[in-house]
Amino acid sequence: MKTLLVLALALGTVAMVPAVAHASPQSDLKAFQGYFKKRFPKVPFDDYANGAYALNANSRAQWQSIMMFPPYEFQLAKGKKLWNTPFKNGKTYASCFRNGGVGIAQHYPYWDQRTHEVRTIVMDINSCRRRNNAAPYKNLTAGPIAELAAYMKSLSRGRHVSIDLSSPGMLKAYERGRQFFWARRGQLNFSCATCHVENAGKFIRGNVVSAALGHGVGFPAYRAKFGHLITLDKRYMGCNKKVRAAPFKPESAQYRDLEVYETYMDTGLPLDAPSYRP
Ligand code: HEC
Repeated sequence: MKTLLVLALALGTVAMVPAVAHASPQSDLKAFQGYFKKRFPKVPFDDYANGAYALNANSRAQWQSIMMFPPYEFQLAKGKKLWNTPFKNGKTYASCFRNGGVGIAQHYPYWDQRTHEVRTIVMDINSCRRRNNAAPYKNLTAGPIAELAAYMKSLSRGRHVSIDLSSPGMLKAYERGRQFFWARRGQLNFSCATCHVENAGKFIRGNVVSAALGHGVGFPAYRAKFGHLITLDKRYMGCNKKVRAAPFKPESAQYRDLEVYETYMDTGLPLDAPSYRP
C-alpha cells in the first residue's frame, strides 16, 4: 500500500496530455508522434525503438555496455534452431510464412480476412504448428514461443513499422485499442498514457519510464528481472498489475487490439527485436 501511495505521489498529475482531437488514425498518429518530438526535441526519431534508453543518458550508457554481449543471444540461437528444425512432415516454420518469414514482421499485427480477427506473430507461430500436426505451445508469454517469435522478428530487424488498417475490422480493433490505451483503470486509476505519455522520461522506483512511442518494436525482449525472453503481452500484463488492475490473458482480443493501436503509433520506427530490458 505504501509503495502504491509513493507511486501515485511521485507521478502526480502532470497536465501534459496531448490535445488529441481524434479524427482518424492518420491524425492520431501525427499528434502522437508530434507530441514526443516537441517534448523531447533532442531524441532522434529512430531512438524510440530503444524504449526507456532513448530518454536517459545514464541508463543508455549502461545498456550499451550490456549490449556488447547481449544476454538474449543464447535464447535467440535456440529460436533459430527451433525455426529450422523440421516438423514430422519435413516442413519447417518458414513454409507457413510469406517470403519464408523474412522481412515481414513489420506488418504485424494484421487483419485476417479469412478468420476475421487480428493476428499476431505469436498466434501465427502456433497456427503453423497446428497446420503441421504439432501441438500448439500453451505458454504464450515465455519459453519456445518467445524464442521463435524473437528469431522471426530478428529476420526483419531494421524494417520500418507499417501496418495496414484499411479493412473495417482492423479499424474497429484500432479504435478499441485506442480506448484501452487512454482509459484509466485499477486501484491507482492510471491509464497507459498516465505513465507512458505524461510521465515518460521520469523515474518510477529507479526505472526510467519509456515513451509509448516505440512500444513493442523491441519485443520479445530479454528481461534481466526474469532472466529470459518475454513476449509483449507479458509486459502488458505486468503494466496492468502495476496499477492493481486484473490482467487479460496473453493474446486475448483486448491485448491484440492494444497491440494494433500501439504498433500503429510506432509507424516508421525500425524493428529492433529481440532487445534487452532491465
Ligand atoms: C504506473 C505506471 C505505468 C502504467 C500505468 C503502465 N506502465 Fe507500462 N511500464 C511502466 C514501467 C515502469 C515500465 C518499465 C520501464 C519502461 O520501459 O517504461 C513499463 C514498460 C512498458 C513497456 C515496455 C517498453 C519497452 O520498450 O521495454 C510497454 C510495452 C508498456 N509498459 C506498455 C504499457 C501499456 C500498454 C499500459 C497500459 C495498459 C502501461 N504500460 C501502463 C509503467 C507503467
